[in-house]
Amino acid sequence: KNSLLSMQDLSAEQILSVLGDAKSFNSSHKDWQLPKHNALVANLFFEASTRTHFSFESAEYQLGCKVADFNASTSSVTKGESLYDTVKTFEAIGYDAVVIRHPKDEYFKELENINIPILNAGDGAGNHPTQCLLDLLTMYDEFKDFKGLNVVIAGDIQHSRVAASNKQALEKLGANVFFAGPEEWQREGYPTMDFDEACKWADVVMMLRIQRERGASLANMSDEEYLEKYGLNDRRYQMMKENAIIMHPAPVNRGVEIADHLVEAKKSRIFKQMSNGVLVRKAVIKRAFGYEPF
Ligand code: CP
Repeated sequence: KNSLLSMQDLSAEQILSVLGDAKSFNSSHKDWQLPKHNALVANLFFEASTRTHFSFESAEYQLGCKVADFNASTSSVTKGESLYDTVKTFEAIGYDAVVIRHPKDEYFKELENINIPILNAGDGAGNHPTQCLLDLLTMYDEFKDFKGLNVVIAGDIQHSRVAASNKQALEKLGANVFFAGPEEWQREGYPTMDFDEACKWADVVMMLRIQRERGASLANMSDEEYLEKYGLNDRRYQMMKENAIIMHPAPVNRGVEIADHLVEAKKSRIFKQMSNGVLVRKAVIKRAFGYEPF
């Protein structure tokens, strides 16, 4: 089954092939639908989401799927049903694929006996492969190559599945990846760079939100102090190279990790990333159903 659980599931060639398919959905194959009409897909979100949830849903509808929206708080999870039994139920009642977001790192290891494709929409601080693919597509649109691309990922690295997935994929594709942010949130094996220096060096400045829901906090630091010390403000924006871009997986906490007005500044591709999210999710669903790249 063509699940997508982590960026480790894809070779460099397969990543480029998914990106190529995603781009085709924006040009020659705009109206392509799954030959299996009315394929049933269930979106199982055990954690809050706006972009991932509803861009998967948009992709599913565009591909001709029938979509089930699962709400954990009104499901039998409240009666103690396990994740495995919940997913096995969707398989048993005729669903063809599931999209899952769950707070537990690598929740999918419990799901090895599930026989329908699983598309990981984020596991704890582990992986967020479709976010990574939309990030890669956004970089590819801009720079047409990953080899030698300089990327800094800044902020709450410790709790970020986006940082983890991008590190895996970008290094595989030949990019140079460094990390910046509070020392408390560094991660072993993640090379760091002074953020001012990184802003001058980078082609891509990717900002991350403080993941307070995973326990991240900096004692006695106001939002204004955080922005000045670790965030993307006007001073750092001015240091960026002429053709460098700003990215952020969102949701954004404006005025914390990035100055409010920079979210939609000329160099920002934050909303372009979201549009690209629908394209890569269409490509990933197509792959999950066993269809070859265009
Ligand atoms: N980037 C991202 O995963 O956003 P959501 O949490 O809104 O899905």
